[in-house]
Amino acid sequence: MSFQGLDVKEIVIDHETLSVRIREMAMQIKQDYQGKRLKLICILKGAVFFMVELAKSLSDVSLTMDFMDVTSYGASTTSCGEVRILKDLDEPIENDDVLLIEDIVDSGLTLRFILKQLAGRNPASLKICTLLDKPSRRLVEVPIDYCGFAIPDSFVVGYGLDFDQRYRNLPFIAALDESKLPPE
Ligand code: IMP
Ligand code: MG
Repeated sequence: MSFQGLDVKEIVIDHETLSVRIREMAMQIKQDYQGKRLKLICILKGAVFFMVELAKSLSDVSLTMDFMDVTSYGASTTSCGEVRILKDLDEPIENDDVLLIEDIVDSGLTLRFILKQLAGRNPASLKICTLLDKPSRRLVEVPIDYCGFAIPDSFVVGYGLDFDQRYRNLPFIAALDESKLPPE
């Protein structure tokens, strides 16, 4: 299969399956955050598509949103382990019930760094919501509170996830044909 010139091994999660699961996650979050000051924090850029869908499914919940950007892999498909803030939050999170929205948890290094940063800013609570999880790749443990799908270890793109900044706009999650990738 080929999309936008990219060699794709298979579609791992189709659009309908993503939509159904995101609505389910929203229902759970709505129950859990009744009476709270819910703030969604999107980790740019990968989590944008997921957060927008999730927020639309929470249309009867009063919430705020903010965005944070940290360094990612660039053109490589593996983590270098170095995390740096490129764009910080616009607002303080003191007394907010913060739900961090991630596209995928891989080694866990990015989230560990972000959790440490944000915990020091005195939120009322701090939880993690990720669309995808690759548990077999974990290097450091991070507590995941909401997970859309656990997937096996292969590099995926689409629905916000990129390879070299491309393919974020595919409306499904697809596995790259890694035999066609340039060597790292
Ligand atoms: P971690 O720090 O290793 O957990 O990696 C987290 C970040 O790496 C994610 O937020 C993604 O931006 C990126 N990432 C990890 N695995 C993939 C993948 O399979 N496709 C695209 N991006 C990925
Ligand atoms: Mg990311």
